[in-house]
Amino acid sequence: MGVDHPERGTIIAEGVQMVYQSGHRRFQALQAVDWKIKSGDIQILMGPSGSGKTTLLSILAGLLTPTTGKVYLLGEEITQMSRSKLARFRRQNIGFIFQNFNLFPALTAAENVEVVLNIKGIRGRKARYQAQVLLEQVGLGFQAHQKPADLSGGQKQRVAIARALAGNPPIIMADEPTAALDSHSGHTVIELLRRLAKEGGCTVLMVTHDPRIIDVADHVTYLEDGVLRDRTALK
Ligand SMILES: Nc1ncnc2c1ncn2[C@@H]1O[C@H](COP(=O)(O)OP(=O)(O)O)[C@@H](O)[C@H]1O
Ligand SMILES: [Mg+2]
Repeated sequence: MGVDHPERGTIIAEGVQMVYQSGHRRFQALQAVDWKIKSGDIQILMGPSGSGKTTLLSILAGLLTPTTGKVYLLGEEITQMSRSKLARFRRQNIGFIFQNFNLFPALTAAENVEVVLNIKGIRGRKARYQAQVLLEQVGLGFQAHQKPADLSGGQKQRVAIARALAGNPPIIMADEPTAALDSHSGHTVIELLRRLAKEGGCTVLMVTHDPRIIDVADHVTYLEDGVLRDRTALK
């Protein structure tokens, strides 16, 4: 699908509920969530700790199955897919950025990006070249051969951004990507993610409870006790 396809990165949730059950304890983390995120938007999901943000993001990314409800990505219902089809779909279409970077410690920055390109069928010299270009885009051209342990937190998160952008997926999701960073590197990382996502026509869904990040968003939605509230007007 091309970058200019209107539905390329659309994310839709319909009546998504999540009930966690452990023993006799039953906890409803999400009330019926209906949500549509437009292709190409930078959407921020905010809310207090425990409000269900990670649960919702995990469901929208196909990492967690909701108790009830449907999720559509790029016009396909992911809540109907088999495990193997969903795993493939996720690898092709979603770049994920985690709070704690989740880089492979034994691999260099370039190799961390190449692994993702390899999974997407881009191999050898082509993958090495694309990894280098991606690292240059995030300002780490000279750090390509360093391992995560030799990089600062902000640099590690920029490697994670390069990796999430590898292969130009239509959707990028990030769960508190700046939580482990100081405010200056946090802002640099988010600004970079915003610019590259806009250039690539990606939809970005980002969870944060950092109010300083909201300037970069097209929309801000608030989650409170598992209920969504659109707060874009308050931005
Ligand atoms: N695997 C789980 N089992 C039981 N309860 C869970 C589980 N994961 C999360 N919860 C509960 O669901 C609520 C929402 O959690 P979470 O989605 O992680 O919120 P947030 O990311 O907004 O902090 C919390 O009360 C949390 O304790
Ligand atoms: Mg969370």
